Amino acid sequence: MESGLEDVVAAETVLSDVDGARGQLIIRGASLDAIRRDPFAAVAARLFNGFFPEPVESSDMAAALGEARVRVFVELNHADPALVGLPLVDALRALLARLPDGEDIGTAQSLLAAAAVFTPGLIRLGRGEKPLPPDPKADHAADMLRMLTGTTARVSAAAGLNTYLVTVSDHGLNASTFASRVVASTRAGLTSSALAALSALKGPLHGGAPGPVLDMLDAIGSPDRAEAWLEGVLDRGDRLMGFGHRVYRVRDPRADALKAALKDLAADNGMDPDRLALAEAVEEAALAVLKRRKPDRPLETNVEFYTALLLEALGFPREAFTAVFATGRMAGWIAHAREQAATHRLIRPQSRYVGPAVSDMAPY
Ligand code: ACO
Repeated sequence: MESGLEDVVAAETVLSDVDGARGQLIIRGASLDAIRRDPFAAVAARLFNGFFPEPVESSDMAAALGEARVRVFVELNHADPALVGLPLVDALRALLARLPDGEDIGTAQSLLAAAAVFTPGLIRLGRGEKPLPPDPKADHAADMLRMLTGTTARVSAAAGLNTYLVTVSDHGLNASTFASRVVASTRAGLTSSALAALSALKGPLHGGAPGPVLDMLDAIGSPDRAEAWLEGVLDRGDRLMGFGHRVYRVRDPRADALKAALKDLAADNGMDPDRLALAEAVEEAALAVLKRRKPDRPLETNVEFYTALLLEALGFPREAFTAVFATGRMAGWIAHAREQAATHRLIRPQSRYVGPAVSDMAPY
């Protein structure tokens, strides 16, 4: 038996395909490259359509998400000091757990909206500031940034966050998505599925990892120090953060989508150009060092490298990165939950007993 269910196909899906050999991510019939600039609401509609009794149109989704953001904002009143003192992803989970369970499109929209509203609200509460109410007419990503900073986001920043949310919206049967499907198969409801998925995402082996990329850039400090510093990491037997992937054997296409968003941000004076130059120099040095030191293993830049830089440039603190990841991935979790429920099949695998032999059973 393969540990970790590696190579086991546990679901058929129309939602996304991760082609690790060609470095392609397909989201419901479109390449990531083709849809990375589409509004997040439209991509959520693309994922949801056909999984609810009513058609889910992208034009309606933007307005429905705006209304849902306003509807859920009141829940931030329940963020008491004990909850605000929790790690941000745990506080997000506690607030999401207050939402009613259900399998309808309204529940789905509330969950999508809640992650976008609670994340900036909790960051502000943690800083001793008041959460800012949503603007139902604003674009989803632009509104999330305004609720974080209190000012209207520059166009390149809103576009950058939108690209991030779209880029992480779905990615095959990753651990959190599988957790969502297992819960959905019991018919527990979408809120329950999302909570299970978020609990899986927070682990450092899944969505809890982009912070260390920034620690690495901080430690390197300037491009001329990159190569020696990276060699030192490998000499100690450690790994370079933001490189390598279990599925991708070539460059992770999400890294390119995020790098393009960062370049747009830098061209618009939305980030420190020296930070981007340092990151590019570190990336180039890391790829060269990895090629030299691990010639038999293709090791390329993964999604976490530019995620860290983009979320930092947009003003999110490091401890909020997993919650922002959840804001995008929520769309995939919900769509997969609905797709699983439609199979009417409980997920219930077998285990093989390898414990002690029975010693107290009466003889026949
Ligand atoms: N730096 C240096 N060496 C590496 C790296 C890395 N980032 N990644 C893999 N290797 C090496 C391993 O040391 C191993 O070498 P060896 O055969 O000489 O012992 C070889 O490549 C294979 O390693 P595996 O652990 O089998 O690779 P796997 O594909 O299972 O690992 C993983 C994938 C966990 C992402 C790994 O590449 C890694 O640890 N990367 C750094 C952390 C990181 O960036 N995580 C975010 C991933 S993206 C995401 O999950 C959303």
